Amino acid sequence: MNFDDAAEVASYDARQGGDPAEDRGLLEGLGLGVDEAMADIGCGTGMLVVEAAKLCREAHAVDISTEMLGVTLARAKAQNLTNVVPHRAGFLSYELPDSSLDLITSKFALHHLPDLWKGVALARLHRTLKPGGRLFLRDVVFSCDPAEIPTVSEEWIAWMSANTGYSRAEVAQHIRDEHSTFSWIMAGLIERAGFRINHAEYSMRIYADYIAEKT
Ligand SMILES: C[S@@+](CC[C@H](N)C(=O)[O-])C[C@H]1O[C@@H](n2cnc3c(N)ncnc32)[C@H](O)[C@@H]1O
Repeated sequence: MNFDDAAEVASYDARQGGDPAEDRGLLEGLGLGVDEAMADIGCGTGMLVVEAAKLCREAHAVDISTEMLGVTLARAKAQNLTNVVPHRAGFLSYELPDSSLDLITSKFALHHLPDLWKGVALARLHRTLKPGGRLFLRDVVFSCDPAEIPTVSEEWIAWMSANTGYSRAEVAQHIRDEHSTFSWIMAGLIERAGFRINHAEYSMRIYADYIAEKT
């Protein structure tokens, strides 16, 4: 999808799904506290970062799309939140001081970078976290053997077409053109950046959640 197209951004939540209560539960589970600062990278329409702002001191909303950031800020304003700080920037260009954040989250955004640049991005995230800071990553990650990719892809396309607002062509385009990678590569990149993975959860051989800590 084109994240700079106002019409596509306006229909994003309906297509993607998502639930503020679920995000809140996730953030509470990650222990986000009132004195803490966090950033959500690739924040999209801001569902998670706005929930985070209700729980913590400062929530940085980072996205390369002006349209997405506009929706995020409108969502924050509608809920009278003044501690959402927008950054029109990406994984490789956001500017936050080193060792300044307690938590970084990113959902379904890191796959926009090829593996080489995922590694660079993860090193930047590591630098930005305080020692002991937490990283939550959720993305499309293939936890299967390379030989299984055709089958897993077909299963994912069928599931997405039945359960979300994405068409077969859009899901196929993700698999073909975007940079979702294998689980062992993703785990290796996270660890190589200096994180300890405390929790890795794989579902449907296509989704992954990682909770990692800056050691
Ligand atoms: C699939 S959406 C996910 C949005 C949101 N995190 C969610 O879970 O609904 C991907 C988001 O990543 C953003 N994005 C794309 N490339 C990026 C980059 N290099 N750095 C940061 N964000 C990026 C897009 O603008 C878009 O808002």
